[in-house]
Amino acid sequence: MGAAATGASAHTQYGTPTPLDRVIPAPASVDPGGAPYRITPGTQIRIEGPREARRVGEYLAELLRPATGYRLPVTDRGRGGIRLRLDDGPHGAEGYRLDSRRSGVTITAREPAGLFHGVQTLRQLLPPAVERDSVQRGPWLVAGGTIEDTPRYGWRGAMLDVSRHFLTVDEVRRYIDQLALYKINKLHLHLSDDQGWRIAVDSWPRLAAYGGSTEVGGGPGGHYTKAEYTELVRYAASRHLEVVPEIDMPGHTNAALASYAELNCDGVAPPLYTGTEVGFSSLCVGKEITYDFVDDVVREIAALTPGRWIHIGGDEAHSTSHEDYVTFMERVQPIVAEYGKTVIGWHQLTGAAPAEGALAQYWGLDSTSPAEKAQVAEAARNGTGLILSPADRIYLDMKYDKDTPLGLSWAGYVEVRQSYDWDPGAYLPGVPGSAVRGVEAPLWTETIENSEHIDYMAFPRLPGTAELGWSPASTHDWDDYRTRLAAQGPRWEALGIGYHRSPQVPWPTAGG
Ligand code: ACM
Repeated sequence: MGAAATGASAHTQYGTPTPLDRVIPAPASVDPGGAPYRITPGTQIRIEGPREARRVGEYLAELLRPATGYRLPVTDRGRGGIRLRLDDGPHGAEGYRLDSRRSGVTITAREPAGLFHGVQTLRQLLPPAVERDSVQRGPWLVAGGTIEDTPRYGWRGAMLDVSRHFLTVDEVRRYIDQLALYKINKLHLHLSDDQGWRIAVDSWPRLAAYGGSTEVGGGPGGHYTKAEYTELVRYAASRHLEVVPEIDMPGHTNAALASYAELNCDGVAPPLYTGTEVGFSSLCVGKEITYDFVDDVVREIAALTPGRWIHIGGDEAHSTSHEDYVTFMERVQPIVAEYGKTVIGWHQLTGAAPAEGALAQYWGLDSTSPAEKAQVAEAARNGTGLILSPADRIYLDMKYDKDTPLGLSWAGYVEVRQSYDWDPGAYLPGVPGSAVRGVEAPLWTETIENSEHIDYMAFPRLPGTAELGWSPASTHDWDDYRTRLAAQGPRWEALGIGYHRSPQVPWPTAGG
């Protein structure tokens, strides 16, 4: 396809609607045809369903009002217009059907999450100018036809490391909005590490007050109060994302060890740490107070977290003996279960005995040893589900190339094609397809300090992970993908997202 010549901005400028299949993630099935629908000053958003459906309608109206300048009332009366319908059809927990014709657009789903994902598709079918916050010229056309869509995987995640550099509630909310546009449904918050403890724990107040008081480079750090964390959980839920909180243990714990001397085997608190080395810290596996600490922290965080999962880390415990690591995980996993949650850990957890129902998050590389991959595969065959986050594919903190001004390169350079062009279902040898529960793109923040940095590292790679998680393997095609990705550029410009203009993507020329 001649991407530059047929770019979305060129089309929409002359009133030709975006083709139904030019969205990310690629829909499961598309049947184009018929006259387009046009949003007009008289368009209404009609809701057939309970309050959660109405909330999706209000969200859509708020999205469309600034650029269209239309009133777009949300109502449960009348016919035509944009209709959001819940029924008990075959769309599963997150799927939807979008039907567009001259008389209206109807999105049908079984659950509000499906309506929400359908709304993101509708949004991408409208011209990029719809994202602007002042009135723009239309026309606001939606191509005719039908989309039937349902995700490949139930876990489509993004991780933010708020420990190495603290990110404010506003910065996290901004990222949540960006994730929602691509149907990401899990926000994994890496809330503790050597450089900072980022959530208030009432029973151990120095964790946040002291352990959160700095960050990489020595800045002031910060932490979320319980009210702020609750607001992040609420905001994520309003975008149909579930927050997965991580307390990384037994390594990556210097901020906790610095806050409470009694957590150290020698009873001496180390100083706060603002460097970027890994692997030097460990909770004291032989001390009973360690498990009182874990119990309190897990209990308090579980109480604030409506989702199913608590991430217990478990990576790079280089200062914990293997025997201690196994003992620690045997003690800690039941604590998570006791508070009604299910364990997820980094894939080193498969070196211990993962609890029933646990997930392991694989973050290795192509070059990871066959023995380590085999250990993960064996756990997967024994029932441990896998979330795939290969560092040389979807770590968003890796540099794109040698000239990238931010990021690390220990897993190599990760350009857009490298990040998109692999199959989660066939990635790790010896792993049954059914063991793969999804994908997640982590963003570690040793070099990332604010939203501008997040934008640059996440775009344009994040949509590739979203597509790997959502779209059927049969739609996977780099040449088609890069054309669709190119069409997202003007949308990011409208949203104020400063993205990396990867030379692998045929971006429309400015003003094209
Ligand atoms: C990791 O990158 N240490 C999970």
